[in-house]
Amino acid sequence: MATTPAVHSRQKKPLIVNAFVEMCTGHQSPGLWRHPDDESWKFNDLDHWVKLAKLLEEAKFHGIFIADVLGGYDVYKNSLDPAVISGAQWPVNEPLSVVPAMAAATKNIGFGVTISTTYEQPYHLARRLATVDHLTKGRLGWNIVTSYLDSAARNIHGKATQLAHDDRYAQAEEYMKVMYKLFQSSWRDDAVILDRERGVYTDPALVRQINHKGKFFDVPGPAITQPSPQRTPLLLQAGTSRAGKIFAAQHAEAIFTSAHSPAVCAKSITEIRELARTEFGRDGNKIKVLALVTPILGRTEEEAQAKHAEYRKYASTEGALALFGGWTGIDLNQYGDDEELREVESNAVKSTVTGYAKFAPQNSKWTKHTVAEHVAIGGNGPIIVGTPEQVADGLERWVEEGGVDGFNFVSLFFVDNEDNGKANTGYRRMPFSHNPSRISSSCFFRSFGSVGFSGMATPFQVARTARTSTASRGRSTHYLSTLLPSSSGGQVCRLKSTRFPNSWDGLSDAESLPRGNN
Ligand SMILES: Cc1cc2nc3c(=O)[nH]c(=O)nc-3n(C[C@H](O)[C@H](O)[C@H](O)COP(=O)(O)O)c2cc1C
Repeated sequence: MATTPAVHSRQKKPLIVNAFVEMCTGHQSPGLWRHPDDESWKFNDLDHWVKLAKLLEEAKFHGIFIADVLGGYDVYKNSLDPAVISGAQWPVNEPLSVVPAMAAATKNIGFGVTISTTYEQPYHLARRLATVDHLTKGRLGWNIVTSYLDSAARNIHGKATQLAHDDRYAQAEEYMKVMYKLFQSSWRDDAVILDRERGVYTDPALVRQINHKGKFFDVPGPAITQPSPQRTPLLLQAGTSRAGKIFAAQHAEAIFTSAHSPAVCAKSITEIRELARTEFGRDGNKIKVLALVTPILGRTEEEAQAKHAEYRKYASTEGALALFGGWTGIDLNQYGDDEELREVESNAVKSTVTGYAKFAPQNSKWTKHTVAEHVAIGGNGPIIVGTPEQVADGLERWVEEGGVDGFNFVSLFFVDNEDNGKANTGYRRMPFSHNPSRISSSCFFRSFGSVGFSGMATPFQVARTARTSTASRGRSTHYLSTLLPSSSGGQVCRLKSTRFPNSWDGLSDAESLPRGNN
């Protein structure tokens, strides 16, 4: 059957499927740890992460992205208590530590780890990243953040507040220069010669200093680690401000977005891609965009809606207000229970809440409680509730209208059980496979009827349903079915840094590296 040119060209764009997690309970949905099926409180346990990595790899996910913060959410009520009580990203563990164990149990899946340029020294971080890139055989990604919590500044820098927003990005900019020099330019690939006869481990002629002197950092180098498989790990970023977008346009290979509508997302992506082209000589289309999404599936729409309603019962509004306070710097506790937030004096409050209201018109009034409900499940990203087919259609809108290349699926909570199933709750682990014929329909329905890690099991269900349902609608090629990670030949389906040549030849002027290198 003939394929239209539009469909044909879409077929070339593979969908990137990522799991979005954090080493804490709740993550984007505080309070869900109270759900009887949740076992996210096992996040201190290494087995928990190893099992997750194996499960996601089996499911052919490209990557696991582990978010991180370096302080508590204490803006709301000017107190840490709401976060402490509700478990809103508190306590939270350091994410890089768990990656080698997950890598040892898997072969292909990638690991994105959040690390802040505001609170780590570049020389030390270059070493830590290179070490883990070695240990994972080149499967590491770095989500570069500049951080947003004053509580981190108080604890790490001993300062009442963090560096101003744009100053954090200016520092991050110089930080990247140091990192590129250390990663790309201070060691030649063949510097370690292991010459037993002459007793030379590393040839000193093939290792050089970087002599970086700048406003924020003085780093003579060379890097203390030899080049890792990727040298520079895959660079990820999620800035939304002008400074953040300029940073992404220059450095990111993949960007994370969290927007309420595909149109908002599309606008932001276009801006970043345009900046990449005009300001940094990069092909902006090569920057991959992953949208944060929380899917909730049911066998019927009613079942999915019932699940959504059930989850809401466990969501913590105090935890949500604590997270909102940290993300925005706004303490909504200063407003009355019934106060309409679109009419208050603060422009920051007005514009943030007006933004929410635009995409949730069912709420006629926006108080602090409405805001809490709005962000309590799935944070600032969209929740897509429905049958697999409805969710597939929802995701498709993000790809077609939002221009995204894939998704960061948020987990509402973890189901982590030894026997791959919980007879009492009806939970069954998916027989993760891209070969639809291997997924029996009974198992399929049992699975998405469950309350599992919704960001983990659903993409397969969604995709398969999209494929079969649209075939039955008579369309020969369904968009989403063409975007899935390929199952053919067990090929590697992860993101990998390809931006820089893996050699120091011609890289003596490390500062010019970001320009034109995609
Ligand atoms: C999907 C997504 C994930 C993010 N993950 C983190 C994170 O793990 N740690 C962090 O400090 N900031 C994280 N951020 C915040 C961004 O780094 C950034 O600070 C925020 O989007 C505001 O943009 P700006 O820095 O340009 O003002 C994330 C943002 C998004 C959209």
